Amino acid sequence: MEKMKFRVLIPEDKIQEKVKELARKISEHYEGRTPLIVSILKGSFIFTADLVRHLTIRYKMDFLATSSYGMYTKHSGVVKVLKDLDTSIEREDVLLVEDVVDSGLTLKYLVDMLKLRRPASLSIAVLLDKEIPREFDLPIEFVGFKIPNRFLVGYGLDWRDMYRGIPYVGYVEHSEEEEKTSNK
Ligand code: IMP
Ligand code: MG
Repeated sequence: MEKMKFRVLIPEDKIQEKVKELARKISEHYEGRTPLIVSILKGSFIFTADLVRHLTIRYKMDFLATSSYGMYTKHSGVVKVLKDLDTSIEREDVLLVEDVVDSGLTLKYLVDMLKLRRPASLSIAVLLDKEIPREFDLPIEFVGFKIPNRFLVGYGLDWRDMYRGIPYVGYVEHSEEEEKTSNK
């Protein structure tokens, strides 16, 4: 991974353990029903793929693609739906699966949008929940880890659309040059 250096925030084994635990809770919650699992692309593709393979219930899959960050790490404040759902969600039990909640704007926007389509229920599962004060309520039923507010990469999360395949969740460290300078 060339020049970028990452510090591990959540190691691979801890993520895998948590994903299994979430899958167990989700399976219990939807026992006897067939929820529609909606993966929010691109970030949640790895989390979703691992999660659904541990579910013990029947489920259907769909995908939504949104963009909020551009090539930079600062939130643009605009949520754009790049790809909408393939099917109607009326009377469906919908579970939105998201990698990380930052400002919460993406989920807030999607929840408001999807509620208008009258699903039987609408719930959220997120792997990472940044500890940021939010002015609105987000009904997140299934949370993996509460984490500090910093920019993260790996396990689906990108830096400039790269590094999504790193098996752990890491954060960006100063470059070696910077470190050498600051250690002096
Ligand atoms: P929010 O709308 O501010 O909650 O941002 C949510 C979206 O931004 C997520 O779906 C992620 O794809 C992306 N995002 C938020 N925080 C990070 C991060 O630390 N690293 C990479 N992507 C992030
Ligand atoms: Mg995302």
